[in-house]
Amino acid sequence: MVEKGGIIQLKNIDVTFHNEGKTIEAVKNVSINVNKGDIFGVIGYSGAGKSTLVRVINLLQKPTSGEVIVNDKNLTKLSVKDLRKERKNIGMIFQHFNLMRSLTVFGNIDFPLRDSKLSKQERKEKVNKLLSLVGLEDRANNYPSQLSGGQKQRVAIARALASDPEILISDEATSALDPKTTTEILNLLGRLNKELGITIVIITHEMDAIKQICNRVAVMEDGKLIEEGDLLTIFGSPKKKLTKDFVDTSTQISSVLDEIKESGIVKSLSGRLVELNYIGNVTNEPLVVELYKKFNVEANILFSNIERLQSTTVGIMLFALTGDDDKVSAAIEYLNSLNVNVKEIDITESEED
Ligand SMILES: Nc1ncnc2c1ncn2[C@@H]1O[C@H](COP(=O)(O)OP(=O)(O)O)[C@@H](O)[C@H]1O
Ligand SMILES: [Mg+2]
Repeated sequence: MVEKGGIIQLKNIDVTFHNEGKTIEAVKNVSINVNKGDIFGVIGYSGAGKSTLVRVINLLQKPTSGEVIVNDKNLTKLSVKDLRKERKNIGMIFQHFNLMRSLTVFGNIDFPLRDSKLSKQERKEKVNKLLSLVGLEDRANNYPSQLSGGQKQRVAIARALASDPEILISDEATSALDPKTTTEILNLLGRLNKELGITIVIITHEMDAIKQICNRVAVMEDGKLIEEGDLLTIFGSPKKKLTKDFVDTSTQISSVLDEIKESGIVKSLSGRLVELNYIGNVTNEPLVVELYKKFNVEANILFSNIERLQSTTVGIMLFALTGDDDKVSAAIEYLNSLNVNVKEIDITESEED
């Protein structure tokens, strides 16, 4: 008996490779639960084990140990025939599109339908429907070489959807695309999630991609899953250093911090530098006034980044606080008591943790 859980449940997955006498533990005791309708992001640097982990979801990669449960079926226990059937329920797209060069756009999307029970006419209708779903109606007779990267990825998406999967896995599918095209493809994935109810697992090394469409995030480092949570929590209060690095890169606060430290501006104000993170509505203006009124502390906003994630405001600010030292400490304590995450930053060090 398999207990009821998410549409994808990976339990204590280990993947170990033995290569030319070397042992590589690519995935170490990773468990994840993806709920139906999630857009689940897996982020990590190259080599973290992301691709290996998601290949386990459809058993393209057999885990060394652990359980793979998809749609309440334990895939490791299925016969070859049943596994083949279950795999049709999981579509995949990749960074390099993996289209067949000798086939037209139509031919590529039709390819997975060859061994289906559909008639030729039904297949044609299906492909045309998929073409219009991804916005490529007028490209049916083109070859992949005649398409832009974004268009190729649309073809790959249409092909992945041909078998009506409930799950779509995207392994760095936007990593070879420019930012504008990346946004278009992510928007398309978001639309497919909403309109078709398809569950999506997105692998990426870019927090910006995660930020745009994911509702849940897992962070991988060195084969391990080091942090997991809903997007707002991961973004608003990352716990692990690596998670914070990813968030900081996307808010650009890290480069701003370097500039601030180099410029000596905080010192010239003879102030102390604090970083504020908040979720929800905390507006900076009243805060500045309040700190002055309550503590006689002057707050200079050196940086502010406010974004809307899943219809919620997530903000990050850098304040230089100037005033009597004990008053500044009291002001920091006060900020801490609000719904704000406060961290004082040492301006003398160039590398902080
Ligand atoms: N088939 C394989 N044989 C041996 N080592 C592998 C194989 N596939 C992946 N690895 C190794 O496993 C680790 C994780 O790789 P991968 O899952 O591709 O990471 P990511 O997708 O996060 O970049 C890397 O050290 C990689 O070299
Ligand atoms: Mg990879």
